[in-house]
Amino acid sequence: MSHIAYVNGRYLPQQAARVHIEDRGYQFADGVYEVMCIWNGYPVDLAGHMQRLNRSLKELQMASPASDGALTLILREVVRRNRLEMGTVYIQVNRGVAPRAHAFPSAKVRPSLVVTAKHGAGPSETVAQAGVKVITLPDIRWERVDIKSVGLLPNALAKQSASEAKAFEALLHVDGTVTEASSSNAWIVTPDKTIVTHPPTNAILAGITRATVLKIARKAGYSIEERPFTLTEALKAKEVFLTGTTTFVMPVVQIDERPVANGTPGTIALDLRQRYRAYMDGLTDAAWNA
Ligand code: PDD
Repeated sequence: MSHIAYVNGRYLPQQAARVHIEDRGYQFADGVYEVMCIWNGYPVDLAGHMQRLNRSLKELQMASPASDGALTLILREVVRRNRLEMGTVYIQVNRGVAPRAHAFPSAKVRPSLVVTAKHGAGPSETVAQAGVKVITLPDIRWERVDIKSVGLLPNALAKQSASEAKAFEALLHVDGTVTEASSSNAWIVTPDKTIVTHPPTNAILAGITRATVLKIARKAGYSIEERPFTLTEALKAKEVFLTGTTTFVMPVVQIDERPVANGTPGTIALDLRQRYRAYMDGLTDAAWNA
């Protein structure tokens, strides 16, 4: 099935969709993005993604190309035109097209907005039930990874190393303190059954899935601490797991060459995965009302 993309006001077959060679997203990674899951045709956490997009734009002093309402209509139309039931939409906003110069172009330059769709949501259930391996790598990113910038080269390099090691993800750390993974947030369950994840500082991306899983976990009565944890703690943890739009809740069973606990998915991670799945299954058309 051919994909339809939205590019600056037009819906085009993806093969015909183009950006200008002087687009600042292309030249400077001067853009921000969101990836949102579409589940049974409904958006997962639309309001959260909109808020984070607006925050990223504000932090980079970038104008918004569309109101939340207008962007929602575009997203709905991309979902409809692609007959997207289970998948993701990708939204990119960048500072637009201008002759190459580092400083911002004139305020008259319109930001660019691109929305694309991809069929298929999340890794298979079989992968989740078996759990995944992660590798550990130094976090070599800049100090504002709270901004969801399209400048993802360190993340891409980390994921490539993971892929070469036949691992699902790379757990990133600064001097032994875990920040997050290359495209997901990292969590542990301590031996006393406390769920721990890094607080939403400028050292991590405040994941939308992370926020929803925190809410679900609190409601389920789990004890939770938002604090940094170390690689040593992760290696001694009862459970380790990841969360993200394309990951949901993913149990980790191996870190580098060491098993996590007994090397099987943790019960809390699997419980949270099931609860998160039930939350997505419960979405209705009201999910479009961000
Ligand atoms: N990545 N941390 C990083 C570095 C990420 O890139 C992502 C998401 C997350 C999880 O955030 P969320 O729960 O909002 O998806 C954490 C997306 C999926 C991507 O780049 O494709």
